[in-house]
Amino acid sequence: MAIQNYIFGPTKKQFFKTRFKQGIALTFKDVSVKTGLSEILPSECNTTTRFSRNIKLKIPIVSAAMDTVTEHTMAILIATMGGIGVIHKNLTPKDQAREVVRTKYYLNGMIESPICVEAGSTMSKVIAMREKEGYRFHRFPVVDENKRLCGILTKDDFDFCTGQSDKVQDNMSREVIYINKEDGQEIAYKLMQDHKKKAIPVVDSDKRVIGMYLLSDLKRIRSGESSTQTLDEKGRLRVAAAIGAGKPALDRFELLADANVDCIVIDTAHGDSLAVFETIRGVREINPSIDIIAGNISEPSSAQRLINEGVDGIKVGQGPGSICTTRIIAGVGAPQVTAIYSCHVVARESNIPVCGDGGIKYSGDIVKAIAAGADTVMLGSLLAGTKEAPGEIFTSNGQMYKTYRGMGSLEAMMTNTESRNRYRQGNTPSKELIPEGVEGRVPYKGPATKKIQFYVGGLRSGMGYAGTPTIEQLKTESRFHQVTTASETEAHPSIEVTSEAPNYQK
Ligand code: XMP
Repeated sequence: MAIQNYIFGPTKKQFFKTRFKQGIALTFKDVSVKTGLSEILPSECNTTTRFSRNIKLKIPIVSAAMDTVTEHTMAILIATMGGIGVIHKNLTPKDQAREVVRTKYYLNGMIESPICVEAGSTMSKVIAMREKEGYRFHRFPVVDENKRLCGILTKDDFDFCTGQSDKVQDNMSREVIYINKEDGQEIAYKLMQDHKKKAIPVVDSDKRVIGMYLLSDLKRIRSGESSTQTLDEKGRLRVAAAIGAGKPALDRFELLADANVDCIVIDTAHGDSLAVFETIRGVREINPSIDIIAGNISEPSSAQRLINEGVDGIKVGQGPGSICTTRIIAGVGAPQVTAIYSCHVVARESNIPVCGDGGIKYSGDIVKAIAAGADTVMLGSLLAGTKEAPGEIFTSNGQMYKTYRGMGSLEAMMTNTESRNRYRQGNTPSKELIPEGVEGRVPYKGPATKKIQFYVGGLRSGMGYAGTPTIEQLKTESRFHQVTTASETEAHPSIEVTSEAPNYQK
């Protein structure tokens, strides 16, 4: 045993135990994961994991519930790449539910309750509705005054519509091929092929529209591309949404549940609080089938209390975020690697996944977070500034930027009750708000796809070096070095960089 320890160094448990005894806690810059015998290539590593008890992911990446990071565009992209997005709550409950619906509608086995238009309505009304709701699609089943299917509008009908005051019934295609619910995906696909139709509405016995199949979705599902996507049992993209604590949060939850949200994240600055426990119970009572993740916490006793309340996942991170000032303003919170490790030790006993939230600056930090015990990581700054992040691009000195701000920044708190509630200042007058975050700008990064590929590529490299071909192995078999400031300096390039690497910036 002594020789084993000499060769391999302390196990992860021994490593942290020694430091716990001394009251030392560590974060990303303080540690490096040990390399080990590698029997497979990074590209062969398996990155599947769990976000919550029942939600499996293909990559351990979660986009942050922040108003400058995740709305439907980001949520769609992340779920398409195998992760999951958490729609932020600085939106009215109705708007947030709409963001969920847009994500769920994007890719469908069968779209349930598709948006229908009335035959007697005008084209201008339909066009205005499309714009207002931000729908990207053009296919709308058309119903008569008895709500029965009587036609379909397609992109061609929009393109060739000359008079916007024309009635829908004068523009729609009347030859609509439809199926009954029992017919299913296979028959829908065959009819599409036989009749060269891109959409097949699904009706009930009264010819009322209850669903619709789209060729693009069925092709994608059949091509196996969906094997890289995060899908629910009906072939729709999965999406999570944030709520706060208390009665308004439960009202918000009801709308999100109706919108078919897959997972609810009770997102507060201090998850170890009575208000959060009550909200967990309230959510369970309203709809016991939706997974609940609660946070944020950074101590194992907090993890235990949330688990006792029956959560399906915990979110760990108090103050590590790039826009956070909680540690500075309130003087609290555990350094993130120790926080993840100690909460994971408790969560592991109940088989509850841990999401490491905040502080990830490089792909190597994802490796360290998972090695410490996280099942997934939540990314804010690494996704902020991308094309899919909410907000406009602006230019300063010839450089393009987007805004990235803390949900506890003064700017977010001044304009949003939910931001104030997150920091338990719901009743605080504006002039007396105590911010726990900052607002700033980040360089415009272009499409997030490339960035996420780099993050997952870095994770795979780390798994290869550590000799841990699965996330579970990286989580359980990793060992750490503690590093000094000198070795942290050594880790970064020491020349003047003239050609910027796409996945590294000091
Ligand atoms: P990164 O480092 O990825 O962190 O940018 C994102 C996470 O930071 C949390 N968050 C905040 N924490 N004050 C805080 O103390 C804030 O204003 C704030 N806004 C976001 C949140 O957990 C997010 O996922």
